[in-house]
Amino acid sequence: MASRNASRAVRSSIKQLATPAVQRRTFITAVNATKAGVAAAPKAAVTASFQQTRGIKTIDFAGTKEKVFEREDWPREKLLEYFKDDTLALIGYGSQGHGQGLNLRDNGLNVIIGVRKNGQSWKEAQQDGWVPGKNLFEVDEAISKGTIVMNLLSDAAQSETWPAIKPQLTKGKTLYFSHGFSPVFKDLTKVDVPSDIDVILVAPKGSGRTVRTLFREGRGINSSVAVYQDVTGKAEEKAVALGVAVGSGYLYKTTFEKEVYSDLYGERGCLMGGIHGMFLAQYEVLRERGHSPSEAFNETVEEATQSLYPLIGANGMDYMYAACSTTARRGAIDWSKRFKETLKPVFQDLYESVANGSETKRSLEYNSRPDYRELYEKEMQEIRELEIWRAGKAVRSLRPENAK
Ligand SMILES: NC(=O)c1ccc[n+]([C@@H]2O[C@H](COP(=O)([O-])OP(=O)(O)OC[C@H]3O[C@@H](n4cnc5c(N)ncnc54)[C@H](OP(=O)(O)O)[C@@H]3O)[C@@H](O)[C@H]2O)c1
Repeated sequence: MASRNASRAVRSSIKQLATPAVQRRTFITAVNATKAGVAAAPKAAVTASFQQTRGIKTIDFAGTKEKVFEREDWPREKLLEYFKDDTLALIGYGSQGHGQGLNLRDNGLNVIIGVRKNGQSWKEAQQDGWVPGKNLFEVDEAISKGTIVMNLLSDAAQSETWPAIKPQLTKGKTLYFSHGFSPVFKDLTKVDVPSDIDVILVAPKGSGRTVRTLFREGRGINSSVAVYQDVTGKAEEKAVALGVAVGSGYLYKTTFEKEVYSDLYGERGCLMGGIHGMFLAQYEVLRERGHSPSEAFNETVEEATQSLYPLIGANGMDYMYAACSTTARRGAIDWSKRFKETLKPVFQDLYESVANGSETKRSLEYNSRPDYRELYEKEMQEIRELEIWRAGKAVRSLRPENAK
């Protein structure tokens, strides 16, 4: 009901987003581009065409100025030249390994995969066309061949395998992560990086599957970029180049610590845990008050994900409000304050639990168990069997595009 005007609003927002000039206008200042261009000279000789003006953009985010790097400063030829002497040893082939690895390969870079033989990832890598002995190896062999080691094992596995991996990270290599987890929480993970190598991070703000899909569509994911240790003086530049090579469109500068705190907090909050909790609470009350499963689901999840949240994504919260009825707007504005006040202490507890390492400890303990996949599957089964998600399956089957 709330989203009567939604499709008109979406159409107009899509039109706006498709206009490059609109996006370009969001850049407020280009800082010292010429200087950045000189600093950007890659380690190997660079042809004149690469000496373009480079822009580390300083963008005004609601009054706070932040640095953002963009893909157009790293065209494919420049990436190929920059990494021409490198072997990228990407270890781990989960969601990120798949997305980043395939994008690197499609960009023409020299990338090899390292995973344990006979594991699920080994099979999946082969299905994606990685060939054993050519560009698919066991973890240790891949690291021995790599100049840049991209550690995309699960965070628990990064800690577990560190005693074996650390001695192989000899001077001159670069260590790359997609999460600040392992080095930031080193007291718990024991991942104490060698002091004589560059340690960098590119953390795509989305699933590895999205990293791949956006790349294939010619788009790019937003990523965080950070430097933990800069031995060569080139760590940031290398991180940005790798970020573009794995499929990022824009790279937001941060620190390892800020990246891991915000990431652990966000996924436990609005991105996943918090939103799941809100859905369940709202659905249960509707059911207790006599509403049918379809009505409870439609009013809790379906309208949110299919109509209203995409409007927030396209043009912001006020835009979503504007697309809804005056009745809906009045109630939503009033109740948002109560929800914020009630939930803020929960978010404060959550942030504290992240900052004091409790979340890391729990994640390491749970995900290091040999039966972690089975345990996770059991929990997923319990979620799948909740009435709300069973009702959802039926509702989805009745979407016009899914109806037989
Ligand atoms: N997924 C995301 O959306 C996302 C987003 C941004 C950043 N990140 C970060 O990216 C990194 C990789 O995450 P992911 O989600 O792609 O992968 P993941 O599912 O967490 O990890 C999967 C990989 O770890 C390997 N692995 C697990 N235990 C192992 C062990 N004991 N020894 C050797 N290998 C082991 C698996 O191999 P087997 O198949 O052989 O078990 C698989 O290749 C993490 O640092 C994560 O925080 C993830």
